[in-house]
Amino acid sequence: MDINNCWYKKICTNTCTESCIRYNCMKSLMEHSNLPEYLWSYKQLTCGNTDAEAFMQLKEIETNIDTFVNEGRNLYIYSENCGNGKTSWSVRLLIKHFDKIWNIAGFTCHGLFINVPKFLYNCKQSISKDVNGFEELCDNIENCELVIWDDLPSSEFTSYEHQIMLQYIDNRINSGKANIFTGNCDKDKSYQLLGDRLASRLFGCSQVIEFKETDKRGLN
Ligand SMILES: Nc1ncnc2c1ncn2[C@@H]1O[C@H](COP(=O)(O)OP(=O)(O)OP(=O)(O)O)[C@@H](O)[C@H]1O
Ligand SMILES: [Mg+2]
Repeated sequence: MDINNCWYKKICTNTCTESCIRYNCMKSLMEHSNLPEYLWSYKQLTCGNTDAEAFMQLKEIETNIDTFVNEGRNLYIYSENCGNGKTSWSVRLLIKHFDKIWNIAGFTCHGLFINVPKFLYNCKQSISKDVNGFEELCDNIENCELVIWDDLPSSEFTSYEHQIMLQYIDNRINSGKANIFTGNCDKDKSYQLLGDRLASRLFGCSQVIEFKETDKRGLN
């Protein structure tokens, strides 16, 4: 391994060594998480006045991520604006979970990052052809303790998409497994686009946090 190139350096409290066990355990968790590598590194997020309360609530969840996961809680982070940190925060919470369990996790999946549009595209593809690793991904969605559902669509679900998402999310909620959703739709729009049954799970079973800051993409 190249210890100078460790993506986890910014938050790790261990001293760097050539044979770091923590690095190997964290790397395995990250690889099993389906999180694209460009999102692995820790992002410093600045907090504007408008979202101060939202950031405080998220920091509280981050500090107590073990309770969040163990109690199978759900969170929906949304904003009508894009680029203000929804995905970054959800990734931060996933990594914090890994950070708490790396030494007991073994080399299996303990948390997943699902980009919803890509997942639904792959669901459709998998009907007619083999999509590499897709079956394992679906098994992991059912079984792992935390799933990030990133980017719920801002256009209407087809009935097929609705059925797929409802099946996975309903199963996870009923079996007490934690979920973090991100999206751009408020309550009214979610009911309209995702359908009553999904939206009711989103708003009835989740802590809801809204971001109001403007787009920060490209500023750092
Ligand atoms: N609070 C913040 N402080 C610093 N940089 C930020 C903040 N929020 C977002 N960014 C920057 O903007 C980029 C996009 O952030 P992110 O992907 O989390 O936005 P998003 O809210 O998920 O956007 P979208 O609605 O398009 O999905 C990040 O790479 C990050 O660099
Ligand atoms: Mg996003």
